[in-house]
Amino acid sequence: MRFFIDTANLDQIREANDLGVLDGVTTNPSLMAKEGIKGEANIKQHYVDICNIVKGDISAEVIATDFEGMIREGKELAALHEQIVVKVPCTKEGIKAIKYFTDNGIRTNCTLVFSVGQALLAAKAGATYVSPFIGRLDDVSTDGVELIRQIVDVYNYYEYGTQVLAASIRHTMHIVQCLEAGADVATCPLDAILGLLKHPLTDIGLAKFLEDYKKVNG
Ligand code: E4P
Repeated sequence: MRFFIDTANLDQIREANDLGVLDGVTTNPSLMAKEGIKGEANIKQHYVDICNIVKGDISAEVIATDFEGMIREGKELAALHEQIVVKVPCTKEGIKAIKYFTDNGIRTNCTLVFSVGQALLAAKAGATYVSPFIGRLDDVSTDGVELIRQIVDVYNYYEYGTQVLAASIRHTMHIVQCLEAGADVATCPLDAILGLLKHPLTDIGLAKFLEDYKKVNG
């Protein structure tokens, strides 16, 4: 399973990238706003900055909700850098736009996916990635990881090429569950990635190793 970081914060992106295990970045308009990135030129420059830090796929989301607007914005975003993947919401206009992008060699991430039916349309339109939001499903008493499992099963059965990108991951256990469910990618907050490292027996074991070393070596 590949690892993306889900943020527009450059410090966090650098920190995750320095671990050496980062495969890409996802952003969305809320994450960009959280960092205070505003204005078309600044937003575009921010995407390029991210591409210059991480060697992997970088999702950049369209703001338009109509087909023509999505196509115009998507083309501009894709032209920024070869690593850009155009993120498009799973709406009627969005599915049409994804099909257009697929036919024109532009890679896409179909976002805001909450059902197998939406994932089916994303795959039929040729999306590079489909992003089911597992945390937001959990928030409304629905099993988000189970949706990942269902989409993975259906895509494998019908041999769709769309990759399952588990999104809206809230904690470390979500990452482990997505791994078990067969997700191709998990996009995670930095804390959830770093949480994978935490184990008291590792800390206790390391302290003992160092203590024993010092006893003999001074
Ligand atoms: C994915 O691409 C989205 O940016 C993100 O995972 C949404 O997460 P949230 O539900 O925590 O906002």
